[in-house]
Amino acid sequence: MKALVLYYSYEGNTEFIAEAISETLNAPIIRIHPTNDLTSTGFGKYVWGGGQVVMGIKPKLEPIECNLNEFDVIFLGSPIWAGTYAPPIKTLMEDGFFIGKKMFYFYTHQGGAQNAERRAEKVISKSNQFVSALGFLDVLKNPEENRRKAQLWAVECIGEIE
Ligand SMILES: Cc1cc2nc3c(=O)[nH]c(=O)nc-3n(C[C@H](O)[C@H](O)[C@H](O)COP(=O)(O)O)c2cc1C
Repeated sequence: MKALVLYYSYEGNTEFIAEAISETLNAPIIRIHPTNDLTSTGFGKYVWGGGQVVMGIKPKLEPIECNLNEFDVIFLGSPIWAGTYAPPIKTLMEDGFFIGKKMFYFYTHQGGAQNAERRAEKVISKSNQFVSALGFLDVLKNPEENRRKAQLWAVECIGEIE
């Protein structure tokens, strides 16, 4: 089983979890970059980002520098935007980047992610085995607690499929 950690992060929270998983499993890690990313740091980011979600936009991505065929297990990470996965992850999930993979989904949020897991599962499981998901709350406010949670989860995940 070869695992890859793939994620999008705008403000570092999802990146923090992705790095903890990658370090725990000694797995390669790749950050997704939209060709036209969010730039605002103030309230405007909610308007721009939330607007993208509401309009169902699937942004173009910079090329992903790896051969996905080499990996059977994907840890896919997203921040929650407007209650669901962020648009760059929508592009990956919905445009056939993953087929026939064992998928673990992790997401970071600030307390408003009630249906986020179910929505991701629905899309991912169309053409992959959705194994499990885990959410992380206020990651950079509680970094050590979240790091430990990510490390434990990563080990459990690999145990589930071996
Ligand atoms: C455009 C936008 C929309 C957001 N919408 C939500 C939301 O619906 N629910 C929530 O709990 N957090 C929401 N957040 C907060 C992020 O999910 C949270 O801070 C996340 O950990 C950020 O991850 P990142 O640092 O990897 O970008 C939103 C943030 C942005 C920028």
